Amino acid sequence: MSLEDTRREYQHGRLTRESLQDSPFEQFNLWMEQAIHSELSDPTAMCLATVDDEGKPWQRTVLLKGFDEQGFLFYTNLGSRKAHDMAGNPNVCLIFPWLDLDRQVIIGGRAERLSKTEVLKYFLKRPRGSQLAAWASKQSSRITSRQALETQFMQMKEKFAAGEVPVPDFWGGYRVVPREFEFWQGGENRLHDRFQYLLEQGAWNISRLAP
Ligand SMILES: Cc1cc2nc3c(=O)[nH]c(=O)nc-3n(C[C@H](O)[C@H](O)[C@H](O)COP(=O)(O)O)c2cc1C
Repeated sequence: MSLEDTRREYQHGRLTRESLQDSPFEQFNLWMEQAIHSELSDPTAMCLATVDDEGKPWQRTVLLKGFDEQGFLFYTNLGSRKAHDMAGNPNVCLIFPWLDLDRQVIIGGRAERLSKTEVLKYFLKRPRGSQLAAWASKQSSRITSRQALETQFMQMKEKFAAGEVPVPDFWGGYRVVPREFEFWQGGENRLHDRFQYLLEQGAWNISRLAP
């Protein structure tokens, strides 16, 4: 099979200026609801790109756990590579790759740490196994084996056998406060529809971009 010959037409319909919501958050909400109703696997999965202190980018998938006009929330380990990157440079980029709908949404903004109260509220909702895993994994550090990870998990299980699992102080969350959105809808003959929302002097300005 030749990768050069691998292609498909995008036929999910057009995105028009008239159909766009004035607020990018409302437009996002509309598309997120459609992604969920379309039964895409992991509609809340988003790619998070960060940049390190040498200007080198890296990206990984995380799950969106909430959003409103203040920003987009996710949770992670505060000692992880992404957390180090964001501590040095809070500029990040998110991508939702809703490919089965011929769509992507790109969001550029600044990441800020969530408060302890916000983190606790979410941590308490996680399954116990995930809470223990947060304690067991020093995310992004080198480990010797799978066995070492499982041993650590079992130790945490014993340590917190009684009562609730507390939030590790090395675990937390972020809010990405957007300054730019792009909504992309694949079109026939590669004539895709792209709309950019840019925050300028407190207002969201909408422009169509060439595909
Ligand atoms: C579908 C999916 C969802 C994920 N969700 C999260 C998440 O919400 N938080 C998280 O820290 N890692 C999540 N991960 C793991 C990350 O992609 C990544 O491996 C981890 O956060 C370490 O990244 P880092 O070393 O760049 O900091 C997820 C991975 C996948 C594939």
